[in-house]
Amino acid sequence: MVKRLLVVLLALVVTLAVASKLEVFSWWTAGGEAEGLQELFNIYSKLYPGVEIINATVAGGAGAQAKAVLKTRMLGGDPPDTFQVHAGRELIDTWVKTGFMEPLTELFISEGWTKVMPKGILDIISYNGEYWSVPVNIHRANVLWYNKTIFEKYGLKPPKTFDEFFDVAEKLKAKGIIPLAFGTKDGWEAAHVFETVLIGTLGAEGYRGLWTGKTKWSDPRVTQALEIFAKMLKYVNPDHAARTWDEACALIVEGKAAMNIMGDWAAGYFMAKGFEDFGWTLAPNNEGIFDALSDSFGLPKGAKNRENVIAFLKVLGSKEGQEAFNIKKGSIPARTDVNKDLFPAYQKSAMEDWLKHEIVPSVMHGAAAPESWVTEFKDVIALFVARPDVKTTQKALISIARLHGMPE
Ligand code: GAL
Repeated sequence: MVKRLLVVLLALVVTLAVASKLEVFSWWTAGGEAEGLQELFNIYSKLYPGVEIINATVAGGAGAQAKAVLKTRMLGGDPPDTFQVHAGRELIDTWVKTGFMEPLTELFISEGWTKVMPKGILDIISYNGEYWSVPVNIHRANVLWYNKTIFEKYGLKPPKTFDEFFDVAEKLKAKGIIPLAFGTKDGWEAAHVFETVLIGTLGAEGYRGLWTGKTKWSDPRVTQALEIFAKMLKYVNPDHAARTWDEACALIVEGKAAMNIMGDWAAGYFMAKGFEDFGWTLAPNNEGIFDALSDSFGLPKGAKNRENVIAFLKVLGSKEGQEAFNIKKGSIPARTDVNKDLFPAYQKSAMEDWLKHEIVPSVMHGAAAPESWVTEFKDVIALFVARPDVKTTQKALISIARLHGMPE
């Protein structure tokens, strides 16, 4: 009898243990990304040792492959328990308006997040008077990274303007160094760089207007951006089509390339590789502008392990979680009450800039425009890399904007 009871009890324990899972879906596999995610898992596992975390990653920067997999799963009624999604249009247009998510307003109030997260961030996760995802960071897209030793060796100053950029690039090229590391393997990286060039020619207000109809895509400053970008492409590594964003960063670590323009997940990558010789400045002509995006996680309807997700979201939004994650990730916390002293020099400078610079939403990383527009935009710019025809490309950009209801 006792034996039978024990067997039943054991079976129950095993069932409970097996049932207690948490599937976290993201595209964080590269250096810095994986380390940041692991920090969150470590905190969670300490609090909930009985829950098995399923780290469901689909490699490919900016969600190049993950987003398609996610769509198939969501539409097929098999949502992951929680998934990475950019705050802003990507979250709201793709998943909230379509009715796939549960609101998280109660959690925001009980955890006190409305008091410690900036209004700008709370606004872009809001819809219909509710909050819909938990932002874990703020990333900056418009950074120019450089190899300090190379710059020192040739007596170069990090460029601040387009003219300075081309001047430095020409000098580096003459020395046999790749001026601008570039990787276009996943199809989004060129659009990422081009976004910063648009900011450079249009300024904060002009760039913002592209996504609201206030700036026309036929604007001569868009033409100028395409011309500048075409010129930049003359200074990149010829094997860019075979490299991902992190493999492009590797050229800087190896001292083969001097600069690249990438989001500050590149800082996470450099740190994960133990590379301390990187410097940073803003992308050319981006002075005083913070091109921002935020990674967040939500609760899809039908999540199999709802309670575990809520517990995970609490970790994501906690001070401890945001500190541990962002130190490794290269981003800054979405919470403003963190201990700044814990952070590396790059993030300290980004925290200061966040407060004093003008914020614009990143298009390539889901903040500025609906996902369908982003996809078309990135494809046109990827094509431009292969065939830098300014006129045809601007026409294509104009017609894409028209499709999304923008005036010509
Ligand atoms: C961005 C994402 C970042 C970083 C980057 C490269 O879209 O917001 O967290 O992972 O892609 O994968």
